Amino acid sequence: MDRKKKIGIGIAAALLILTAGVLIWHLSSGDGGKAPGDNPGTEEVSPEEKDEEPEAEENSDGKDEETPQAEDGESTEGSGSSGSSQNMSDPYPRPEGVSVVSNPDSITALVNKSNFLPDDWQPSDLVSVGGGQSLRAEAAAAFEELKKAAEADGYTFNVISGYRTKATQISLYSNYMAQDPEGAPYLSAYPRSSEHELGLAMDISPDWSLHYDLLETGLGKWMTAHAHEYGWILRYPEGKTNVTGYVFEAWHYRYLGKDLAAKVKNSGLTLEEYYGSV
Ligand code: DAL
Ligand code: ZN
Repeated sequence: MDRKKKIGIGIAAALLILTAGVLIWHLSSGDGGKAPGDNPGTEEVSPEEKDEEPEAEENSDGKDEETPQAEDGESTEGSGSSGSSQNMSDPYPRPEGVSVVSNPDSITALVNKSNFLPDDWQPSDLVSVGGGQSLRAEAAAAFEELKKAAEADGYTFNVISGYRTKATQISLYSNYMAQDPEGAPYLSAYPRSSEHELGLAMDISPDWSLHYDLLETGLGKWMTAHAHEYGWILRYPEGKTNVTGYVFEAWHYRYLGKDLAAKVKNSGLTLEEYYGSV
């Protein structure tokens, strides 16, 4: 019996020493009490943002306009591909009262603040135009033709923003809204109302940044004289904010095809005015 007692006491003492040892080691190792879930390496995924547009110019000739409603942002990843079957709520739902473009595949479709692209539409014929940008096939071919003609006259330029996914437009628009909720709608299109989402618009530059004075440069003057011959029009001209809803963008060209581009250019009207939709 005594012997068993001795053994019992011995085991108890050994356990006590072991426990104390572990406790001392744990405290001295410097990670006391950190729970597994505290890992600071948790990824914060920010939306992809390749396209950038310049800071706001004053909307000097801007008209009063409703600021589109933006709900508190939830993740916008995985934007739906089949109608309204999105699981996550859309931070930029289509505003009430706007129309949905019925012919988004058409080269001459009108996309603007009153005419939104269908939620699940996207171009099926995108072609690279360099610099990580793409355009619909016909517009890409017209861009190459335009670029070659400009180069023959001594001007070079790049497409610094072409086709944009809905996710990219959401990211851009959100950034503008975060900086200046009142000015943002004059500078950036509400998601699903951008011609960039249509795949028929390009922002051009002689380098890789946007230039407000582009039209005063040799390249800009050349574009003013010739862009329509290749199917392109300057879409947001100076002094037309009350019609287009956007400040002057010296860099944003829209592909319409040669016939319509020449007609719109020669009319001196914006696309909205030409279509009689204002
Ligand atoms: N900046 C032009 C209006 C766009 O976002 O499509
Ligand atoms: Zn643009």
